[in-house]
Amino acid sequence: MRLPAKVKLVEVGPRDGLQNEPETVSTAVKIELIDRLAGSGLQSIEVGSFVSPKWVPQMADTADVMAGLAVRDGVRYGVLVPNMQGFEAARSAGAKEIAVLAAASETFSRNNVNCSIAESLNRVRPVCEAAKAEGIAVRGYVSCVLGCPYKGEIEPQAVAWVAKELMEMGCDEISLGDTIGQGTPAAAQRLIDTVAEAVPVERLAAHFHDTYGQGLANILAVLEKGVAVIDGAVAGLGGCPYANGATGNVASEDVLYMLNGLDIETGVDLESLAAAGQFVCSQLGRLTASKVARALSARAGR
Ligand code: HMG
Ligand code: MG
Repeated sequence: MRLPAKVKLVEVGPRDGLQNEPETVSTAVKIELIDRLAGSGLQSIEVGSFVSPKWVPQMADTADVMAGLAVRDGVRYGVLVPNMQGFEAARSAGAKEIAVLAAASETFSRNNVNCSIAESLNRVRPVCEAAKAEGIAVRGYVSCVLGCPYKGEIEPQAVAWVAKELMEMGCDEISLGDTIGQGTPAAAQRLIDTVAEAVPVERLAAHFHDTYGQGLANILAVLEKGVAVIDGAVAGLGGCPYANGATGNVASEDVLYMLNGLDIETGVDLESLAAAGQFVCSQLGRLTASKVARALSARAGR
């Protein structure tokens, strides 16, 4: 098995996870969570989004969250923006990294950003241009890469087309979202084989939700294909507001435990990451979805 020697972990829990919470999570809790995540060695953390507060109320305080974050050497705080209005807000908040989004499914696109795929790409194009002009890094998400909650099957070619469009607009990295977590390892490998013909594999990231418990297996499958950027959400937080029944991203602690076992370097400390997950779960009044975090707690008698 040939695997990357080093993996960049992108923590999306504060955005992808908390966007889906039924109750308001305070700005102070978000800031403390992000600070703990950065303290564990994570260098890429998506801290919120500048989207319509009517659509996603949990992210309405993203500017306040950003204002409260400590500057840490080497740590990049990203924010999701769907359009120029979001970009202006992100720039005013001092964002150095943004993420734009498009989907490989027309129906999901309409439900998530209220427009077609082509229209969403047209919204994203000026965002990429403006970001590039200001030296702001841009990540591009493609949703529904291994299936759509409304449409079912998605052709890898459709994903490759959207991914290439995003790259050509200037996205530095393309994160492939299995929004509903229904993919399996062979499908994940076929996806990478097809998308890597359009976008170099070094620029691809895997963003897998764990609804069907396939997250880790799918990650291992794409590591074998050379993907070396992996998204995760601490404690397995979240879901997608526009994909009924979808659960959170694969838990970052579980990803890290697997990478440690494979001797893949990440620069992240497992105990501190798990403690960050326990912190947010205690604030949310629920148990972690990370099996590794649960095992570590049980071993420590907590
Ligand atoms: P729209 O209604 O079509 O937008 O929504 P509009 O341009 O017609 O504007 C309507 C209203 O929204 C106006 O306000 C605008 O000011 C406001 P009003 O005059 O009614 O008071 N508005 C905004 N407010 C704040 N920030 C903005 C913004 N833009 C417009 N940026 C829009 C279009 C994209 C805004 C909306 O559909 C939206 O916000 N959708 C939410 C998208 C979202 O956050 N989805 C969840 C994250 S995506 C995800 O989780 C998948 C991912 O993790 C990858 C994966 O797993 O696949 C990334
Ligand atoms: Mg997601």
